Amino acid sequence: MKTVDQQNVLLDTFNLVRGPRLGRGGSGEVVLASAKHDPSLKVAVKMVSLKRKSGETDFFNEVSFLRELRHPHILKMIAFACVPQHGFILMTYYQNGTLSSLIWSEPLKGRRMLGHVLDVTCALEYLHNRYIYHQDVKPLNILLDNQDRAILGDFGHAKQARDSSAKVREWVSTPGFYGPETRKGRPMCPFKLDMYSLGVTMWLLVYRTHTIHPDPLAAKDYCRKVREPYRRILLQLLHKDPNQRWRAADLMRFSVWNSLRAPSQLTTR
Ligand SMILES: Nc1ncnc2c1ncn2[C@@H]1O[C@H](COP(=O)(O)OP(=O)(O)O)[C@@H](O)[C@H]1O
Ligand SMILES: [Mg+2]
Repeated sequence: MKTVDQQNVLLDTFNLVRGPRLGRGGSGEVVLASAKHDPSLKVAVKMVSLKRKSGETDFFNEVSFLRELRHPHILKMIAFACVPQHGFILMTYYQNGTLSSLIWSEPLKGRRMLGHVLDVTCALEYLHNRYIYHQDVKPLNILLDNQDRAILGDFGHAKQARDSSAKVREWVSTPGFYGPETRKGRPMCPFKLDMYSLGVTMWLLVYRTHTIHPDPLAAKDYCRKVREPYRRILLQLLHKDPNQRWRAADLMRFSVWNSLRAPSQLTTR
């Protein structure tokens, strides 16, 4: 075991011991660390290289959002620190992995899958009400806490728009999670693009495959076996017309009305 703070930075205050790697993404790695005085006290530490301009931009962007946001379904930052070439974000350790690991481990029951989708919807409603869009909603950026609640993390690409009618010209999410309007070269609603990425996330939870039809609505046959209300939600989130695609608030309202009728089985036989 090495100390996390090999460069004698502010993190030394926490006197941490570096444990195993929890994950890796575009901006660096995330490791588990425990306090020296009490090894049962665990935190996750995201270590970002600031050598490249893009790393530096994403790091300070993420920190500036995480220090302001307070929501039960948004990742909690405990502290941050930086030295000339490295940035560190100390966060709550979510020990049940990400939604991505769930996809490959076990078939999900309908209600549990919907619970995770609604947790993220709740976080997105909170963000979108503040004109913030996440820009990288995907299973690898959604963590699970010890009560099986989904927690939205990785705010490296998040941005705040001027108001609810703001449009963007570029979108930098992960390939495969882009809404079809990104191919048209016209101004786009960033909030509806987040909802499309949530739709792709739900698609992955339902079908457990990365083979996503470029226009999932055209692949309606695919959806035939998926029961209501899951099917309706999937189709509304992946609607290729952003004007008809649901907002987070629409999905919340729909789910309140339908929660009692959601069957535990996702598909018909
Ligand atoms: N707080 C955390 N607790 C547990 N694992 C985490 C935590 N934060 C991130 N991870 C793991 O590290 C991976 C990369 O973290 P992320 O913030 O998405 O970094 P990047 O910006 O490089 O994509 C995640 O996909 C997840 O597996
Ligand atoms: Mg990530």
